[in-house]
Amino acid sequence: MKYKRFVWLAALIFILSVFNVYSQEILVVDNTIFNRPQRPAAVFDHDDHNEKAQLEEDCSICHHVYDENNVRIEDESSEDSLCSECHSLKKIPENSIPLRMAFHNRCKQCHFKSDKGPVLCGECHIRK
Ligand code: HEC
Ligand code: HEC
Ligand code: HEC
Ligand code: HEC
Repeated sequence: MKYKRFVWLAALIFILSVFNVYSQEILVVDNTIFNRPQRPAAVFDHDDHNEKAQLEEDCSICHHVYDENNVRIEDESSEDSLCSECHSLKKIPENSIPLRMAFHNRCKQCHFKSDKGPVLCGECHIRK
């Protein structure tokens, strides 16, 4: 029964590929977009961080969307985009927040405000 074997194989490949998609964990914020990064990539265990900080309800706290007048649209999320798809390395007319500032403002502002989470360079950019 060659056909049956094929079906099983196809099913197995399907299951493995689904598993693979969902097991891509984010443990640091990728810094390869920066030309010659000066610091080690910042530690950020995405799922664990957001669970501990109770940020799982509203992804748009970080993955936001703005309208053409640069007003934030509530309840809309850009979780399928990298920050760098909108925030360039240098300030551009369409977006006045360059990438490094976007990360620092988002991460550090909340840590300062909530008095939780790291605010010192070496606490995020940890040399391994
Ligand atoms: C505390 C901020 C924060 C929150 C809250 C957050 N994320 Fe993220 N997420 C990030 C950062 C930072 C990245 C890395 C983005 C980059 O490298 O440009 C990321 C990346 C992702 C990626 C990969 C994007 C890609 O194109 O590779 C997905 C998917 C994602 N987040 C989904 C979610 C979902 C779903 C939620 C809500 C349940 C969520 N995130 C909440 C900060 C956050
Ligand atoms: C779909 C496009 C888009 C994506 C993706 C995006 N942003 Fe933004 N972001 C904007 C726009 C537009 C503004 C407003 C810029 C302005 O006022 O000139 C903005 C503003 C900001 C600001 C300043 C205002 C505020 O909310 O404090 C920060 C910080 C910021 N973004 C961080 C991030 C981070 C971190 C990520 C990735 C997790 C990200 N952004 C992803 C479009 C985006
Ligand atoms: C809206 C608030 C908020 C934002 C935005 C945020 N954090 Fe945090 N972060 C927290 C809180 C709250 C904690 C403490 C969690 C706990 O109770 O352990 C924390 C803890 C951490 C820790 C300590 C280890 C851990 O996982 O608990 C790291 C590292 C960290 N944050 C990195 C980041 C980075 C990098 C970003 C930006 C991409 C970021 N955070 C954005 C709220 C935030
Ligand atoms: C809350 C965490 C956090 C803290 C604290 C922090 N950073 Fe960052 N920083 C990030 C994230 C996230 C990025 C985005 C890419 C990456 O490095 O992972 C980044 C990017 C950078 C970059 C651009 C990429 C590179 O390596 O060239 C520099 C430079 C940088 N940070 C320097 C600093 C300095 C200096 C301090 C202390 C004054 C500091 N950071 C504190 C999270 C942090």
